[in-house]
Amino acid sequence: MNRKPHVAVVGATGAVGIEMIKTLEKRNFPAGKLTLLASARSTGKRLEFRDEVIAVKELTKDSFEGVELALFSAGGAISREYAPLAARAGCVVVDNSSAFRMDDQVPLVIPEINATDLKEHRGIIANPNCTTAITLMGLYPLHRAFGCKRIFASSYQAVSGTGAKAIAELQRQVAQAVKGEPVTRQVYPHQIAFNVLPHVDSFLPSGYTKEEMKMENEGRKIMHHPAFRASVTCVRVPVYRAHSVAVSAEFDKPVTVEAALAVLRQAPGLDVIDNPAKCEYPLPLYQAEKDNCAVGRVRKDCAMDNGLCFWVSGDQLLKGAALNAVQIAEELLLMAR
Ligand code: A2P
Repeated sequence: MNRKPHVAVVGATGAVGIEMIKTLEKRNFPAGKLTLLASARSTGKRLEFRDEVIAVKELTKDSFEGVELALFSAGGAISREYAPLAARAGCVVVDNSSAFRMDDQVPLVIPEINATDLKEHRGIIANPNCTTAITLMGLYPLHRAFGCKRIFASSYQAVSGTGAKAIAELQRQVAQAVKGEPVTRQVYPHQIAFNVLPHVDSFLPSGYTKEEMKMENEGRKIMHHPAFRASVTCVRVPVYRAHSVAVSAEFDKPVTVEAALAVLRQAPGLDVIDNPAKCEYPLPLYQAEKDNCAVGRVRKDCAMDNGLCFWVSGDQLLKGAALNAVQIAEELLLMAR
């Protein structure tokens, strides 16, 4: 890859795409050229990058000529159709959808955990599920130190995970509810304003949702831990952009709160906010727009041996999506040197 690669963002007008553009700019990613791609509906829409104004183009089969690196976030169907085409055209794809995450030929990477897996890529690299990524930022350092057997967890997921339309839906429903008007729905099966929905992604025959099983499946692959088990309930909450997860983790080795905090304080990309006496713990409202995830409420789990409970929160659009994708791109550039 060129030192100043031609980069494309696929889904540039979406909630994650916009953050990808901002993150490339904020981190001074050395893009020689930026191509912005979306559906025909967005053709000609203008977005800013550094001191340029770039017109969005329609995604077509020919969009990847000359593009060296493409960050995809336009949904699984678009990724399945266009990512292989882009890879065949010589472009390296970092894909934010779930389309390729469990494919053996495709590395699934959180750079702080398994950046070395990038060496095996064959043109497509998968960005993990947002809730999994945020959870593993807290869990993986503990796993390395104490050996995690399994977790029980509940997520509190922001509407940004569903995309720009869901952010607009929450804004609209809050205004409608406050004015006492009838609340209208387009995105979620129930009102999300002033409510919580124990339903993220589609249901499987087991009764879990697909989102819930991503924690175990993607967690195994990212942590290189095939025996890892995770029982998760994913919940959508009326929060705009950061996800939080309450985790109970069981370890092979005995673990103390002090030892766990010492490990977490050393972990890259993670802040420890844990002073319950002063009401200090990670809050999604304040994790929004922050690169680092935050962990707190670390305590011994009273219902299992060698168990710890913790609460981890992180910006779903950043570490859960755009930031992780750009960090992968940065690693690829380093590898190409
Ligand atoms: P568009 O804005 O033109 O619809 P979000 O997850 O926030 O809803 O964003 C989805 C992103 O995927 C948007 O940038 C959207 O573009 C893009 N997208 C959706 N459908 C297509 C398509 N058929 N071709 C290219 N981009 C698409």
